[in-house]
Amino acid sequence: MASSEVKRSKVLISRRWPAAVEAHLREHYDLTVDADDRPLDRNALCRAMTTFDAICPTVSDRIDAEIIATPNSTVRLLANYGVGVDHIDLNAARAAGIAVTNTPDVLTDATAELAILLMLMASRRASEGERELRSGQWHGWRPTHLMGQGLAGKHLGLVGFGRIARATAQRAQALGLRVSCHIRRLVAAEDAVALGITCYTSLEELVRDVDILSLHCPGGAATHHLVNAALLARMKPSAILINTARGTVVDETALAAALRANRIAAAGLDVYEREPKVTPALLDLPNVVLLPHLGSATVETRTAMGMRVATNLAHFFTGKEPPDRVA
Ligand code: DGY
Repeated sequence: MASSEVKRSKVLISRRWPAAVEAHLREHYDLTVDADDRPLDRNALCRAMTTFDAICPTVSDRIDAEIIATPNSTVRLLANYGVGVDHIDLNAARAAGIAVTNTPDVLTDATAELAILLMLMASRRASEGERELRSGQWHGWRPTHLMGQGLAGKHLGLVGFGRIARATAQRAQALGLRVSCHIRRLVAAEDAVALGITCYTSLEELVRDVDILSLHCPGGAATHHLVNAALLARMKPSAILINTARGTVVDETALAAALRANRIAAAGLDVYEREPKVTPALLDLPNVVLLPHLGSATVETRTAMGMRVATNLAHFFTGKEPPDRVA
């Protein structure tokens, strides 16, 4: 870590990171921090491609094939701050000989906690209640006031069965939910069974059977609008949809229509198709909880994510394979 090559490497972090991580990186690299703390636009990203040895982007920096193909690029590593990398064209990075890393594991617990938080908020109508109270519309306790649904004994369906899905399953089981998951390949089935989780290979059947559907699959072309009008129509009218994965997995227009018509009971969303824009039809609905992409937003987790990036940088710039290489 103390080699002179490490000290000379020019590294850009595209947003402000927790102070401890910025300080750590400053000790080891020629570090540039985007002081505005706003997403870099295309021009800024193209300039960065010809200035730095490594760029550390976040989910809000779209690094597509055109940006990666910037002439005279100096960038050798895109060390993403986050686990999801659907905002980076991995094939283009491979073709250009640019390594890409991410930050798995460290945000698993925080994101699973947020999925559970959304389940509780949506099922117990917590946002509706808080809005009512803050606007002075609460007129006191009454037996039929804002009745929600309990979670104990309900059936939770997980779409995807990676680390975050498993951590969500454990927490849900502790709350008394029965858990099933949708998996494409039966290789994960043994793991699921060991955790007391039932596997479905048909997404349609899972969706039909569960009370809460929670999304834990990656974003990208393969899952774009996986939850569309047809799938929503298969859900129970009492069902709740939770999305802490990627906004593009859900057709927001179709979801807003289903919520408005009470074809499903509620939704809890932390991610959106066109962040930071939210489909306006969702904003008017009482039965959807809307959080601003807070899945990993704890001091501990955001610091750990930054230190994981630091480990990837340190390995890369000392000629070792970075532990979290995805391309
Ligand atoms: C992640 O790590 O993928 C979070 O959604 C932030 O990018």
